[in-house]
Amino acid sequence: MHTLVPCDLERWYSTYGYRALYNLSSSAAPSLSTQDVLAMGGAAAQAEYLALQLEYSPQQGSQRLRSAIAGRYQSIAAAQVQVTTGAAEALFLVLNALLYPGATLIVQFPIYPPIYTLAASLGATVLRWPIGAAGAVDLDRLAGMLRRQPVQALVLNNPHSPTGAVLSPSELQQIADLATEQRSVLVVDEVYRGIQFAGPPTPAAADLSPTAISIGDVAKPYGLGGLRVGWIATHNAAALRRCAELRDYTTLCSSVPGEFLAALALEHHATLIGKHLATARINRTYFASVIGAVPWLEGTLASAGFTIFPRSHRATSTLALCQDLCDHHDVLLLPGDVFAMPGYLRLGFGVEPSQFAAGLERVLNY
Ligand SMILES: Cc1ncc(COP(=O)(O)O)c(C=O)c1O
Repeated sequence: MHTLVPCDLERWYSTYGYRALYNLSSSAAPSLSTQDVLAMGGAAAQAEYLALQLEYSPQQGSQRLRSAIAGRYQSIAAAQVQVTTGAAEALFLVLNALLYPGATLIVQFPIYPPIYTLAASLGATVLRWPIGAAGAVDLDRLAGMLRRQPVQALVLNNPHSPTGAVLSPSELQQIADLATEQRSVLVVDEVYRGIQFAGPPTPAAADLSPTAISIGDVAKPYGLGGLRVGWIATHNAAALRRCAELRDYTTLCSSVPGEFLAALALEHHATLIGKHLATARINRTYFASVIGAVPWLEGTLASAGFTIFPRSHRATSTLALCQDLCDHHDVLLLPGDVFAMPGYLRLGFGVEPSQFAAGLERVLNY
């Protein structure tokens, strides 16, 4: 194993994440309380929660949680789901299952950085497939990359952070078919699936091919990152089995209260996502109405996710700008530098509208 380099994005949050009054950097929905989640299940759910036995949970995840997760797919059964400690562990297990020294990974770029740093640490060659302006997809270029050499895994993030771009159903199907043709395993980090404001809902990769792997979590769509629940869903039995074996070396299983609350949230998906999309719509409308008056920020709203990734035209580097905004103006943004994209800023809409407006005002007056 090669060196696992520090993850700049998570190091940024570790340093600045809890300092600023206004967090306008997050890609997740506003967080919910235990009470909020239990309220959706009524008195029975509250009693059940308090009576939970705090023993080990099944390694694959509780039956109730896996069934609720399977309900988010068209063709996936509970048995084809592996629960993980957040999408972070899901990515760790999947990449460890598929890659080895000398393997090749194609990764959409930019993307959540641990994906390519972990792959490199496993001895894989990492090839970048860049996302075009306004989320444009160059399928010919991808096909060329896939056909040039054996590629063990192709990893995408759809809907995409930080840009908010989303693949159309036909684009994703073409990518799944290309991967199948080249015997590459398509892995899609789908933690933002369901957070979509326009266009036909983007499908889950696991529903499109017998080998594709979908990764999800309850952090981004519901604001439940503190539960640390994510998952792997796939028809690819060999990969799923290998991920289960590897989990014996990472976290063994999830926490019983976390799994219970995550299942409850998933069972009320429509209510929760509806509430969070409504909040984000207010913020998006407000953002669209003021952005034109800010000559140093250039960016367009994409149709999915809770983030936008505008370019900064200020002379100050985006890293210095974000440090100063946090230290002296109490606003947290994410510098594009942590995505190896200096000059860009990630702004998040998953905040209560009054907070969003107050924080954005500080950015605009900067
Ligand atoms: C695209 C993406 N994938 C995965 C993760 C990890 O998510 P989790 O909190 O579920 O471990 C993150 C976290 O920010 C992310 O942005």
